[in-house]
Amino acid sequence: MLDQFGRRIEYLRISVTDRCNFRCQYCMPVEGLPWLPKQEILRYEEIAEIVRQLAPLGLKRLRITGGEPTIRPDLVSLIRMLKAIDGIEDIALSTNGVKLPQMASALADAGLDRVNISADSLRAERVVQIARRDLGFDLVMAAKAAQDAGIAPIKINVVVMRGINDDELAEFAALTREFPWHVRFIELMPVGELRELTWDHVVPSEEVLTRVRSLGPLAADAGPAKGNGPAVYYRYEGAPGTVGVITPMTHTYCETCNRVRLTADGRLRTCLFGDHEVVLRDALRRGDPLAPLFAKALAEKPKEHALLQMQVGGLRALSQVGG
Ligand code: GTP
Ligand code: 5AD
Ligand code: SF4
Repeated sequence: MLDQFGRRIEYLRISVTDRCNFRCQYCMPVEGLPWLPKQEILRYEEIAEIVRQLAPLGLKRLRITGGEPTIRPDLVSLIRMLKAIDGIEDIALSTNGVKLPQMASALADAGLDRVNISADSLRAERVVQIARRDLGFDLVMAAKAAQDAGIAPIKINVVVMRGINDDELAEFAALTREFPWHVRFIELMPVGELRELTWDHVVPSEEVLTRVRSLGPLAADAGPAKGNGPAVYYRYEGAPGTVGVITPMTHTYCETCNRVRLTADGRLRTCLFGDHEVVLRDALRRGDPLAPLFAKALAEKPKEHALLQMQVGGLRALSQVGG
């Protein structure tokens, strides 16, 4: 499947819920958002049917996202259904990790290949301050649970916020010298809750790299073998893991974009930002074939996103668009 700019689209990010058990400062308000009503949300069988129809067009890799995907009941059964679809080579999960200690082995048994865990602090009180929920999250415990279940590679997403967690960069980077984990520092994007304040809190990735070089030299690295995203990786000499940066604010990576997104209510979004979407759910529920709608969506996939030109008021939280 090539889009109008010759980009090969083989990666679908599937949001299974817009809800979350956290309330990260940069994502959603403490009181939550107007959640989608249940009947609007795709059932697991409907998600699997969409993937069955798209796989023959060249879809190979899936990532399950949210909101927080692990809070949707019986996520394990969705993974099992998706894993059984011909042509699907890789299933990943993006999670805040709260439920990994209890779910990792069942997810692995169902066929989950890899996991990206979001973690913005290694300090218990600060986790609560940023996520605004006290759920006992501990990154090392969550990542070890995934590792013990045989899920690999394990990536850790740290949204860097100046004055909030940027005093922990070296501690996060040091994890990669002890464990085979891939710590990725993400530039804060002006969406969701912190959008008015965001510019004051953005730490450019160049600065992040300079700061974590205080631990030792970092060499460019290919990074973990499995990855579909825009991260660029580095490694400390002899380290089992890598340090990565994701730079939505200082670089765009739209020209190599390989992905589309499915929202929890069945809209196919061809760009993280902006309003390019095609409703699949209604056609699916009528029993119409989806391939023509998919072709239409790809024909309209924009050349690049307009994040930096957008009005702050119009930007939706990543939990609403599948991250
Ligand atoms: P890997 O395949 O494991 O590398 O995953 P990924 O980086 O695609 O997925 P993940 O869910 O971990 O996303 C991490 C971050 O990458 C997100 O928070 C975004 O900041 C950024 N990102 C992912 N996809 C896009 C995209 O299409 N556009 C932009 N601007 N940023 C993206
Ligand atoms: N800026 C940067 N990253 C964000 N994420 C959520 N909201 C933002 C934002 N405003 C991250 C999450 C998760 C990933 C899927 O997106 O922390 O790691
Ligand atoms: Fe939940 Fe992720 Fe948003 Fe935090 S960033 S509130 S974990 S969806």
